[in-house]
Parts: sequence; C-alpha cells; structure tokens
Amino acid sequence: MAERVAIVTGGLRGLGQAMALGLAAAGHRVLAVGHIADDVEPMRIAAHDRGIPESALLPAVADIRDPEACTALVDRACNRLGGIHILVNNAGLTFTTISPDKFRRPSPQSFWECGDTLVQSVMDTNFTAADRMARRVAPLLLAQGWGRIVNVTTKLDTMNRPGSSPYGPSKAALEMATEIRAKELDGTGVTANIVNPGAGANTPGMAEEWRTGSRNGSMPPLLEPDEMVAPLLFVVSDAAGGINGFRFDANTWDRASPPELAARRNGRPAGFVLHDAAPWDAVPARAG
Ligand SMILES: NC(=O)c1ccc[n+]([C@@H]2O[C@H](COP(=O)([O-])OP(=O)(O)OC[C@H]3O[C@@H](n4cnc5c(N)ncnc54)[C@H](O)[C@@H]3O)[C@@H](O)[C@H]2O)c1
Repeated sequence: MAERVAIVTGGLRGLGQAMALGLAAAGHRVLAVGHIADDVEPMRIAAHDRGIPESALLPAVADIRDPEACTALVDRACNRLGGIHILVNNAGLTFTTISPDKFRRPSPQSFWECGDTLVQSVMDTNFTAADRMARRVAPLLLAQGWGRIVNVTTKLDTMNRPGSSPYGPSKAALEMATEIRAKELDGTGVTANIVNPGAGANTPGMAEEWRTGSRNGSMPPLLEPDEMVAPLLFVVSDAAGGINGFRFDANTWDRASPPELAARRNGRPAGFVLHDAAPWDAVPARAG
C-alpha cells in the first residue's frame, strides 16, 4: 500500500483512535485530532505500544467547530506530514453528550426538550465541521488526482428513531452529503464513502451502562473499535479507486475474505433509498 497522509478527526479516542492507529500501522502518516487534551498522552502510549514511530502519528488538540482551526489542521498535515490524501471525518458528539441520562429515563429525550446550544453544537460538530473539512481538503485532493474522503455516520434506524434528535438529523445530513460528494467527485480519482461500526461500539462515546452490560452479558455485545480498521484500509487503498458513494459496516465485514470480496458483499449505496411516496390517502393515519 502506498504511504499517504491522513487526517482523522476525533482520532484521539474511541473509533477514531483505532482508525488513526490502524492507518499509521499500515504505513500512513496520520494527524489525529481531538478536542480533549487529556486524550493525547493515552494516544501516544497506544501508538508506542504498537511500535508506531512518533513521525508517523501526530496528535493534535483542536476544536473543529472553529473554521480557522480546520484550516490550520489541513496546513499542519501539509507542512508537518508532507501533504493530504485521506480525510476521515469521524469526530462526533454522541448520545452520551446529548442525553447522558438516557439509560435511566423511562423514555428517550424528545426533540422539543433539546436546547438551542445542544442542537447547534451537535450539528456544528457532526455535520458542519465534517463538511468544512471536506471543503478544505477537496481542492488539494482534486489537484493531485487522488484522494479519499471517509465519513462516519450511523445506522439508518438510529437516524430516524424517536429520541434521536439532534444526533440522527446531523448524521442524516452527513449521510446525504456523502452521496452528493461521491456524485460530484465521480471520475476525479477522489472518492467519498462511509465506514460505520454498524452496531454499538465499545468507546467512551457509548453509555457506560451499555459498556458495563455488554461486559457482564446483560446487554448486547459491542463492536471493538479495532474492527473499523479492515474496511477503512480497503476504502483508502488504491484498489478501492472505483469504490465511490458506498457505506461499509465494520460489524458485518468479513475479515476472513480478501478485502475486495468482503467489500462487494458488505457495501451498500450511501444515502437513502428514494422511492415514489405513496399517495397521502394510502398512508395510515397517525394519531396526533
Ligand atoms: N460508539 C458508537 O456506538 C457509534 C455508533 C455509530 C456511529 N458512531 C460515530 O462514530 C464516531 C466516533 O464515535 P466514538 O464512540 O468513538 O466517540 P467518542 O466520544 O469516544 O470520541 C469522539 C471523538 O470526537 C472528538 N470530538 C468531538 N467534538 C469535537 C470537536 N468539536 N473538535 C474536535 N474533535 C471533537 C472527541 O475529542 C473524541 O476524540 C462519532 O461520529 C459517532 O457518532 C459511534
């Protein structure tokens, strides 16, 4: 695999840390960005434990809700690591931020209970910052005729589930943006795809109740973050140059098969299945 430069947002812990380490272990140079300074040292230790040289993995603390911080990150990748080829838009505010007491309440948070600050912050992080990072790097990727934009969204039934606001809408926007980008990038050597866990994952962004429950068997098992690496490495490889506008789920990725075969079995078009809406009188009335 050719050595390339990647930015992984949210790359200091959880799924992003696993993907940043996985890219670096595969020979890429990685700028791993998070907004929590305390995550830097554990990331350095994790990289050291895996034998990843300091020159291959650069941790950075930045708030990607800030447009200037995004510009500075792209400049840093270019100046310190020698370019930019891969963008993994993984940073996100999850349900632990949005509804910390979700597992203790009788029902999930309703949309009208979400305050302006929360909604703005989630949309800014999960959608606007990812969109901004893609807009910052796309001209550079297009100029070199090679690039990979990888977004992390979520399961479709998490996006539209009651109680998912504002998380679901923010991820739905990123999902649809991926489909649009893929169409606009078609034939340029730059691709836009999605790599998702496909299931709840064992990260700090997951409710502690579920993490504990999955360990003691009282809750469904969680995906381990390292499982994200195999589909990611395929999507960013040269072999995946023709793979554009797809979503891959780590939990159903067949690691025993060659990556091309695993991808063919696993991939689904990014975005939503569009169909002609049923006439209004064919839709069952909802109590209102
Ligand atoms: N954990 C799951 O079960 C799960 C399932 C589906 C999708 N996802 C998505 O995967 C991604 C990673 O999830 P996770 O569970 O690893 O989360 P996490 O909370 O463990 O880590 C999130 C990372 O994003 C970073 N981040 C958040 N806001 C930021 C900001 N303003 N600027 C810079 N960095 C910022 C954090 O610093 C952290 O490094 C998220 O987008 C999440 O929505 C997670």
